Formats: sequence, C-alpha cells, structure tokens
Amino acid sequence: MTKTFVTHSSKQTQQIGKDMAASTLPGHPIVLMGDLGSGKTTFVQGFGSYFGFKRMTSPTYTFIKSYKITSQISENTSYWINHVDLYRAATISDIHNLGIPDLLHDPLSWTLIEWPELILNLLPKKTIIIKFTQSDKNMRKIVVSHNQTI
Ligand SMILES: Nc1ncnc2c1ncn2[C@@H]1O[C@H](COP(=O)(O)OP(=O)(O)OP(=O)(O)O)[C@@H](O)[C@H]1O
Ligand SMILES: [Mg+2]
Repeated sequence: MTKTFVTHSSKQTQQIGKDMAASTLPGHPIVLMGDLGSGKTTFVQGFGSYFGFKRMTSPTYTFIKSYKITSQISENTSYWINHVDLYRAATISDIHNLGIPDLLHDPLSWTLIEWPELILNLLPKKTIIIKFTQSDKNMRKIVVSHNQTI
C-alpha cells in the first residue's frame, strides 16, 4: 500500500509528519530516504510537534536523539520518539553499539531513521518506508509505503 503527497513548503511537509504521528502506532520503525535537503528532518519536526516537541534538530553527530513523551497515554509507561540519522555511521558495529536493533523492535517507541541504507536488512516487515524527492526549490514528493520491502 502506498500513498503519495506533494508539498509546496516546509510547513506542508511538517503537516504530513504531524498527521502521520496522529495515525501511527509505536513499534513501527519509520525510515526516511532521499537526498540531502529533501525534507526528512523537516518531516520529523512535524511528527514531533504532534507530541509537543518544538525545534527538533538533526542528530547528525550523535546519531540518535530520544525524546520522552510526557503528555501521553499511560501513567506507568514511558513512550519515546527516537530520531536517528545514520548519515555519518560507517559500520554495522556502529549500529550495534548504538543499540539500534533493539530500537527497531521497541513497542514503546516511534523510531524515525534518516539515511537507513546501512540497516536495510535489519528492518522488520512492519517498517514504514518514506521516500522524499525534491522536484523544485520548494516542492517535494513524499511517498509512504507500508509492508513493502525496499
Ligand atoms: N516542501 C518542502 N518540504 C520540506 N522542506 C522544504 C520544502 N520546501 C523547501 N524546503 C526546505 O528544504 C530543506 C529541507 O531540509 P531537511 O533538513 O529537512 O532535509 P533532509 O532531508 O533532512 O536533509 P539531510 O539529508 O541533510 O539530513 C529545509 O531548508 C526546508 O526549509
Ligand atoms: Mg536531515
């Protein structure tokens, strides 16, 4: 199943991310594919805004930033957004040292991964794949796929 969106501003891309946060259960990794500047981080900012996080910035140098969701769901359980950016990750042992295999299966997390190329073979079948393409200065195509292999 795929769904295609076309946006004409970063605000519209953020709105797509926010809508997805409202409609996606935790435990499904979300991978974000596309060239530099195609809108992946912008989408994550919108996703986080649904849970009240403002100005999320890319974890390019730390690889992962985790945000504890306080506003939600149940008193005794903590839910998380994990924003992962593997642009600078070099090896699969980096991936294991970062604990990413566990995150991919964590039922209490929304884990969004930019530059997932290194871990494609670790992704569970339930992963949501989002492909971003820049078609013009302010125009992006966003294709969301469920239950598909890359
Ligand atoms: N329709 C649009 N959707 C998203 N971003 C847009 C759009 N139009 C313009 N932009 C601009 O494009 C840039 C997208 O940057 P962003 O950091 O989201 O890209 P990225 O895919 O995360 O890149 P990187 O691979 O470097 O992490 C921002 O400067 C944003 O303002
Ligand atoms: Mg980015």
